[in-house]
Amino acid sequence: MSDYKRIESALIHGGIYGDEYTKAVNVPIYQTSTYEQSGIGEEPRWEYSRTGNPTRAALEALIAELEHGKSGFAFASGMAAITAVLSLFHTGDRILISSNVYGGTFRVLDKVFNHFGISYSIEDTTDIKELEKKITDDVKAILVESPANPLLTVTDLEAVAGIATQHGILSIVDNTFMTPYLQRPLELGADIVIHSATKYLGGHSDVVAGLVVVKDEQLARQLAFIQNSTGGVLGPFDSFLLIRGIKTLGVRLDRHVGNAERAAEFLREHKAVKKVYYPGFPDAQGYEINQRQAKNGGAMISFELYENYDIKKFFQSLKLVALAESLGGVESLVCHPASMTHASIPYEVRQKVGITDGLIRLSIGIENIDDILEDIAQAIAESEE
Ligand SMILES: Cc1ncc(COP(=O)(O)O)c(C=O)c1O
Repeated sequence: MSDYKRIESALIHGGIYGDEYTKAVNVPIYQTSTYEQSGIGEEPRWEYSRTGNPTRAALEALIAELEHGKSGFAFASGMAAITAVLSLFHTGDRILISSNVYGGTFRVLDKVFNHFGISYSIEDTTDIKELEKKITDDVKAILVESPANPLLTVTDLEAVAGIATQHGILSIVDNTFMTPYLQRPLELGADIVIHSATKYLGGHSDVVAGLVVVKDEQLARQLAFIQNSTGGVLGPFDSFLLIRGIKTLGVRLDRHVGNAERAAEFLREHKAVKKVYYPGFPDAQGYEINQRQAKNGGAMISFELYENYDIKKFFQSLKLVALAESLGGVESLVCHPASMTHASIPYEVRQKVGITDGLIRLSIGIENIDDILEDIAQAIAESEE
């Protein structure tokens, strides 16, 4: 048990601190696939690196502590983490998902898990009363993001966990956009937390990784079995990179969020901008709920320009902010959800859930905010028709 309580310290000292053999302050990269065993029939602590690796184990202990869970699991990507969680379900089971989840989550359910008879329904998880009505006998889980990708809609995580518990089903939260520094779903009653650690946790756009955290021992045993059986584990070097990234999560996010608050305000006041989606605005959908369950509105912003601005030209004209998939790195990134992150969602479904072709998503980095705003302003000016 740690003798510190605050998350800023846990980010640096949590999990397994340093190396017990050399007293190195960092957990070494145990770049090994196997371990010498002392004899037949003994149960070695380490036997094979798909099953367990000390560098990965240190990361898994760290994320479990940060999310206030009991067990953590590290995977080769966020999608490998989601795939492992979805592997808990059986033929005939159905999962309710938020109406704007990451496109890849939709795709793996729609195009892979449907082969195994596991189905899904897209629901407006912001309306808890309506959501509860959708829980029929075959529904075994509710999977939400809050704020969700890309419209940043907020779902009441405590209320979702409440109705899930009442109906004896699992509540699963993809906490990628917030991280445990801003929001801890297990404390709100969720059963499973998932991360694309590729994003804020890694924080430097140099590693692809996924994490899962649970508090229940039975779920932990099932996930350990699935992780070892299906094998989509994170390697030792990438585990080291994530531990390294997580140490600075607090300072990075403070800056990300400060910059995002300025950028959201700037966009809202700009004459070219039709609509800004940012959960930190007091009049944003779900603002009070977000304030209750998270530290602040995070650092993701989506917006739409008026029709007399050419968004292709806007993207081409940006000089500092890069057009790229992903988010949560130190550098500001911009993307066009309809043709990039959410392209795997059919056009009609995108229209229904509000992911229009004019929507622009910004991941605000930690550069000087004036440089970011000047870049956005000049790109908007270039794009006016
Ligand atoms: C909210 C969310 N969940 C999951 C994923 C998938 O993670 P990865 O790209 O690490 O596989 C992403 C990727 O963009 C994401 O944004």
